[in-house]
Amino acid sequence: DREKAESKAKIKQLLKEKDAVLVAHYYTDPEIQALAEETGGCVSDSLEMARFGRDHPAKTLIVAGVKFMGETSKILSPDKTILMPTLEATCSLDLGCPIETFSEFCDAHPDHTVVVYANTSAAVKARADWVVTSSIALEIVEHLDSEGKKIIWGPDRHLGSYIAKQTGAEMLMWQGECIVHDEFQAKALRELKKLHPNAAVLVHPESPASVVELADAVGSTSQLIKAAQTMDNDMFIVATDKGIFYKMQQAAPDKNLIAAPTGGNGATCKSCAHCPWMAMNGLKAIESALENSDSQQHEIFVDDALRLDALKPLDRMLDFAM
Ligand code: 13P
Ligand code: SF4
Repeated sequence: DREKAESKAKIKQLLKEKDAVLVAHYYTDPEIQALAEETGGCVSDSLEMARFGRDHPAKTLIVAGVKFMGETSKILSPDKTILMPTLEATCSLDLGCPIETFSEFCDAHPDHTVVVYANTSAAVKARADWVVTSSIALEIVEHLDSEGKKIIWGPDRHLGSYIAKQTGAEMLMWQGECIVHDEFQAKALRELKKLHPNAAVLVHPESPASVVELADAVGSTSQLIKAAQTMDNDMFIVATDKGIFYKMQQAAPDKNLIAAPTGGNGATCKSCAHCPWMAMNGLKAIESALENSDSQQHEIFVDDALRLDALKPLDRMLDFAM
């Protein structure tokens, strides 16, 4: 742990030297979230990360999360240097939604409004009319539905189905999923609920419908943290990436938090409630990104024309969320 302490000290010094600020997602490892807090950075959901980075005066943002979060930061702050601990940290939703095929899907339904989840490439965002994150998706689709719009939704089919069910909106669905949330098991969750009848179940809507059905609260990471803080129950079963426990426990120190099952009933988990790409954001990787900030090995670039096209639907979301 001496090595970790040294690494943290080095990062703190480099952040100052490079006029940089650390922006971390709730799914990164606890020590990364703690470091972001200690150094005046931010730990938040993907919507807040985008806003914080855009509004912060630092010249450089170091985004501890996955690639789409770095790209979103660059689209919103073209004059800032956007670094990531590793450019390899991607997302199964982004990977499962290549621009060529997604664009063909949109072209086949020209009378539809294209709404894409933030977990997509800059190119997919540029093809969209609206970008949404999970904390604002429901309201935006509700709004579009009230205007009589037919919607193309991509890429998360579980989040899409949840929103379609809640709003009654007509939605053509891209068939992508998050490898972490897709693994939560309804049957095993029902068994766990029996063992803890007073526990409330908190579910991120990237989870399968069978799991969402068992929820007492459904929402984005920040909404789930709020739920743990405000609901009366003293125990919560949590169906989202386990990185969230750090902030959730901080927000609700007297509550007992347990993880929803990803295995059981003969199923074995692969990601086991922790995103392998979020896990790449280690201390050493952050240190290296800051140390080699001029090497471009950690830097996010977005083509300028593409950036302007992707900015429109992103700004639409941010204006709506005001
Ligand atoms: P939110 O923090 O917006 O809920 O996003 C969840 C997620 O899966 C990010 O990768
Ligand atoms: Fe993508 Fe899921 Fe990882 Fe979030 S948790 S980055 S949605 S794979």
